[in-house]
Amino acid sequence: MAGTLLSVQDLKVGFRTEQGVVRAVDGVSFDLEAGQTLGVVGESGSGKTVTAKALMNLLPSYAHVEGTVSFGDRDVFAMAANREKHFWGVEMTMVFQDPMTSLNPVKKVGEQIAESLRVHLKKSRREAFAEAGDLLEQVGIPEPGKRLTQYPHELSGGLRQRVVIAMALACGPHLLIADEPTTALDVTVQKHILDLLDDLRRDRGMAMILITHDLGVVKGRADEIMVMYAGHTMEEAPTATLFSEMRHPYTEALLETIPKIDTPSHTRLVPIPGRPPEVIEIPDGCPFAPRCRYSITRCLTDRPGLTSHGSGHSCACHAPVGTPSGIEARAANESTGTTAAGLDMDQFTRKVPVIDFGPPGAEG
Ligand SMILES: Nc1ncnc2c1ncn2[C@@H]1O[C@H](COP(=O)(O)OP(=O)(O)OP(=O)(O)O)[C@@H](O)[C@H]1O
Ligand SMILES: [Mg+2]
Repeated sequence: MAGTLLSVQDLKVGFRTEQGVVRAVDGVSFDLEAGQTLGVVGESGSGKTVTAKALMNLLPSYAHVEGTVSFGDRDVFAMAANREKHFWGVEMTMVFQDPMTSLNPVKKVGEQIAESLRVHLKKSRREAFAEAGDLLEQVGIPEPGKRLTQYPHELSGGLRQRVVIAMALACGPHLLIADEPTTALDVTVQKHILDLLDDLRRDRGMAMILITHDLGVVKGRADEIMVMYAGHTMEEAPTATLFSEMRHPYTEALLETIPKIDTPSHTRLVPIPGRPPEVIEIPDGCPFAPRCRYSITRCLTDRPGLTSHGSGHSCACHAPVGTPSGIEARAANESTGTTAAGLDMDQFTRKVPVIDFGPPGAEG
């Protein structure tokens, strides 16, 4: 498949709760080319998983969903309404943060992978088991023959996530959605899994949506990055552009929260002051204004729309980083010591230490 594979237009997801309507996703649009990786980045509660579940038709029935999602020339929500279930799990699949949510604890690994091939692609039992073994090999599992006959609890967390990836790849999807696929794993295993996903994506010409709260994870892996906050897209750009010309103060703040390889250990990180808003009561203006060091009066009342900052680069901000209005806003806030939203500018110089566990084996 060449050209645009997935096109999401003005996606909105609301949940009616006792406290009111939770606008978990509020007007998100993006396109993904075949074979490319989109990184979706944002803090907890920004609407990343809800967006993914909307695409996967996995939202609970009480969710109110609006917008259009096209996959090639097919209408994804129309397929959901018509219960065309062989689309999900075949052409579009998903890997979740916790491998145990996708694995059946009482079924052998081989049976679980083979099942998907038998149900969706109508393979015989023998063919499906042979392919399951091949898939385990492709995801770097040693002794695949032995692993096929084991139960999930007999495997380590890293091997389990590899099994889940094998299951997601079984039917040859064109798009794989990986939702924080490594956060439940050991740090050393995390990089192996992310590199594996990247290699498999390239070998298969598959597209990927890689969801994470860490800009560092998508830096070398995504073609495009979309930064989300409180159900909104704050900034979207080709990866190199995002890092060289970031425009949104939220993106800048997220970048300051990741440790850099070239800074000495013990260097303190700058946390983003405050917390994301409860999506039940997002203020009228920019949802990030209360935590933003660039905020001006307009940000409190007037929600900024996405505007273009060059090819494929858009940002929703009244005072974008590095532009005359942003430079002026920040300088004015620094001179008065407070932002339009009343945030003390000192908050931005309070740093938190990077936890240094010392060399392996150093403890007591
Ligand atoms: N089934 C649901 N009913 C009501 N609210 C929900 C439901 N699912 C998600 N939400 C709310 O929608 C918002 C977005 O949630 P989502 O899980 O998409 O966040 P996220 O960006 O994936 O965060 P994290 O990084 O913690 O995974 C949150 O405020 C969450 O509480
Ligand atoms: Mg999530």
